[in-house]
Amino acid sequence: MKVLGIETSCDETGVALYCTERGLLGQALHSQIAMHERYGGVVPELASRDHIRRVLPLAADVLAQARLPVAALDAIAYTEGPGLAGALLVGAGIGASMAFALGIPAIGVHHLEAHLLSPLLSADPPAFPFVALLVSGGHTQLMDVAGIGRYELLGDTLDDAAGEAFDKSAQLLGLGYPGGPAIAQLAEGGQAGRHRLPRPMLHSDDLDFSFSGLKTAVLTAVRRGIADEQARADLAAEIEAAIVDVLVAKSLRALQRTGRRQLVVAGGVSANRRLRAQLGEACARSGARVTFPELALCSDNGAMIAFAGALRLQADGQAGIAAGAQIDGFRVQPRWPLDALPAP
Ligand code: KG4
Ligand code: ZN
Repeated sequence: MKVLGIETSCDETGVALYCTERGLLGQALHSQIAMHERYGGVVPELASRDHIRRVLPLAADVLAQARLPVAALDAIAYTEGPGLAGALLVGAGIGASMAFALGIPAIGVHHLEAHLLSPLLSADPPAFPFVALLVSGGHTQLMDVAGIGRYELLGDTLDDAAGEAFDKSAQLLGLGYPGGPAIAQLAEGGQAGRHRLPRPMLHSDDLDFSFSGLKTAVLTAVRRGIADEQARADLAAEIEAAIVDVLVAKSLRALQRTGRRQLVVAGGVSANRRLRAQLGEACARSGARVTFPELALCSDNGAMIAFAGALRLQADGQAGIAAGAQIDGFRVQPRWPLDALPAP
């Protein structure tokens, strides 16, 4: 089965072709970062308009990479939510229209489920069950994953997401958008521990997170004055360390509580090197295995949407495909909790 995946939930237009027999046959991505940078964050209306311009040329590129005509597609997967409503409508509208024209099923994919399943695309994929740490610009969640669609929320952020903490701290430091890579880069020349920042809820007896206090502490540090470039790099290193320390501690606690021996990390923040190194060490010490998506698949992309769509269509079997083939419209879900998804 060959599934074309379309991702338009935020500021990346991603298109990819996944074949259940041969793997990824083509992928293309257009990042809108340069367009949004001057505003310090994503401008939803600009995002939607740019997605409209990009999806079909990217789809043509992907089909050319795969050396396949559009008629070879068996299904179209698009991101149904969560995300920016207008941006989602672009991918859903184009995806459903293409499927209607081709007489093939269209399937709406949950963006976080796609992130969560993306490590299964790696060369040495993890097996169910596992604990998943989902860390993106909008979400910080720990999930117990027994199988596709069998998700139990273990912990969530009470306020800002981890990616948001990176982005907002970067803004306070006068760094560009997105903040995660900018802080990580600045942190390379700095040393954590020189400015002490709080690790919110590190010792709380639950699996929840809170990052808004960290942002306030960064604001206080910035207002007090940063002496020089070295001090700025030290502060960036401490911000990164504070966020990573909490993510590592809670992930290990989630493994302990559930008795699982496998951790899967996904979402944009999973690209962070310090997080990868520290989780790797901590899991090795406690005898657990940790899997990250390939770096190219950490942030938003079409491959994870095509892949999740294919897994869902396979798991739902003929019934799902028949239901998908009767296209009578499409919908998007800007807010859509992952644990509300049904099992296939
Ligand atoms: O999953 P994603 O691409 O988009 C959402 O669905 O939100 O995640 C984007 C988030 C942003 O907050 C960005 O700053 C963060 O991921 N991020 C990073 C790194 N690369 C991206 N955070 C820390 N370190 C990185 N290397
Ligand atoms: Zn994402």
